[in-house]
Amino acid sequence: MEIEPIRWSGETLLLLDQTRLPAEQVTVEIGRYQDAVEAISLMRVRGAPAIGVTAAYAMALAAGQISANDDSIDKNEFLSQLRQAAEKIALARPTAVNLGWAVRKQMDLAESVESAGQIGARLLLEAQRIHLEDVAINRKMGGHGQELMPDGGAVLTHCNTGALATAGFGTALGVIRAGWESGKRFQVYNTETRPWLQGARLTSWEFQQLGIPSTLLVDSAAGMLLSQGKISCVITGADRIAANGDTANKIGTYTLAVLARENGVPFYVAAPTSTIDARLSSGDEIQIEERPPHEVYQFQGAPTAPPGIEAINPSFDVTPNRYISGIVTEMGVARPPYQESLMSAMETAKG
Ligand code: MRU
Repeated sequence: MEIEPIRWSGETLLLLDQTRLPAEQVTVEIGRYQDAVEAISLMRVRGAPAIGVTAAYAMALAAGQISANDDSIDKNEFLSQLRQAAEKIALARPTAVNLGWAVRKQMDLAESVESAGQIGARLLLEAQRIHLEDVAINRKMGGHGQELMPDGGAVLTHCNTGALATAGFGTALGVIRAGWESGKRFQVYNTETRPWLQGARLTSWEFQQLGIPSTLLVDSAAGMLLSQGKISCVITGADRIAANGDTANKIGTYTLAVLARENGVPFYVAAPTSTIDARLSSGDEIQIEERPPHEVYQFQGAPTAPPGIEAINPSFDVTPNRYISGIVTEMGVARPPYQESLMSAMETAKG
């Protein structure tokens, strides 16, 4: 059965609460955009594409709330209230480009709709379209990326980039899945991904659901495996890719990319073209989310360090393009120089 992290009930958004997995499968019901913002900030829904889809629905919920408060509201006043909601949604988490992308797309659509009364319905249809499109894009990415998967050998991945991180199927995990579904057989290693354990909790769970055997390792064991020649390639997702291919992804990705290069192992990224931020010329311009320090010195409320300790908690890092052997998008595998190959992928995607 396919994992569905995000569903629309007809009136509300249903999110599989990713903070409770794998112990419990709990669905949270969201009827107000403010609750969607909270679910994104608290990581109940996470992963760049999943955050984007949630943000698109949050805009539709916001439009519904505005109409419910005043059904005779004029379009300018409607747009001004929607813009205020859009700003709050866009700020829920700063690094994943998909969030701002979805909010801008919905705001542009709202501005183009003739009367205020139609905005809510149009935004909902658009959110549903973005939702379905994401799954289709991920399957396409899997089709292109599976060629990079080895037959024999082993693949290492980081964080969670599967169905849970998207609307379905996944990005890097989707490529691994497509490799398996094409009949290739290889060992899969996945990191724990401190401090939220997206790898241990979510990726291991997804591989179990898919029947793909995977082996979990602590983040700091990856270098040893790479140096022992046990890994044929590394593949991760991305939260934001600058025009030159510099890639922001879960903290620890940069370390893996450098270690892969040191050991002559290809390092791939899988992400839809919507993750490319062509406005940024390099990764230096990517804003990195700094999360609360308690996530480092506590786990689910239990202390993991002495009281009073200081901690830093950058949620993402940037891998310079020179460490990246290829970027899988729904348009194919982009190769260096990325400035050209990513632009061409984006143009083809626009049609
Ligand atoms: O903090 P998270 O769990 O939202 O971080 C997720 C990642 O870094 C993923 O690798 C990225 O969003 C790509 S997911 C398809």
